[in-house]
Amino acid sequence: MNLVFFGPPGSGKGTQAERLKTKFKLRHISTGDLLREAVARGTELGKRVESVLAEGRLVSDDIVLALMRDAISAVKGDSALRGWLLDGFPRTIGQAEGLDGILGELDQAIDAVVVLDVDRGTVVDRLSGRRTCTKCKAVFHVEANPPRTEGVCDRCGGELIQREDDRPETIRKRLDVYEAQTKPVLDFYRGRVTMHTVDGGKDVDEVTQAIERVLT
Ligand code: AP5
Repeated sequence: MNLVFFGPPGSGKGTQAERLKTKFKLRHISTGDLLREAVARGTELGKRVESVLAEGRLVSDDIVLALMRDAISAVKGDSALRGWLLDGFPRTIGQAEGLDGILGELDQAIDAVVVLDVDRGTVVDRLSGRRTCTKCKAVFHVEANPPRTEGVCDRCGGELIQREDDRPETIRKRLDVYEAQTKPVLDFYRGRVTMHTVDGGKDVDEVTQAIERVLT
């Protein structure tokens, strides 16, 4: 099964992908995680994209498509997996068209796009309170999903930090970019791919159950 999780920043794509990847035996591929990893490792790519991420703009389509071509191709060789789950990609019409080309070459297709529907006020609250583990990338929220010990990851004991792009002015910029460049991707898929819209404003467990219901 090959899935795309779609929704604005802070809609819960990463949280739900982490919960559902094991049940459905999918590789969770997050473009944001891949790009942040490149920045953290100080690679050539990381140096090129660091300021773009910090300012909440989009990395160019050619860079992102090259990353995704490698990541999706790698899933094919892993017999323990039944497919992939894309989180944060595609984010422009150009990326959606590029993904079509990659999938055509690999003889694969998207089985469903799951849209997490959340209003702007809710995502601002969520992103302002998000804390991310520097080691294992687990995601918490200071109120909705707090760690047992403040600042310490429940899963691996790593340090929890606030992402640089989760500052108020950058959150606003990311939401504007979503409205202008990413939301139109929904029209690209409408009528061509199965789409399920889920109320992403409910609590984490309820959203997980709603996604499971539409996918099984
Ligand atoms: P990326 O990392 O993809 O960020 P995003 O899309 O902005 O999404 P987020 O990770 O912020 O949110 P999410 O929906 O995963 O929510 P989460 O589960 O964490 O991209 C970052 C940057 O990389 C971009 O700005 C861009 O520069 C670049 N980039 C990435 N992909 C790109 C692409 N394709 N093209 C070009 N550039 C690209 O949840 C958020 C918080 O809410 C957490 O604290 C969580 O605990 C909490 N929460 C989650 N669900 C609930 C719930 N149901 N109730 C209450 N709290 C909840």
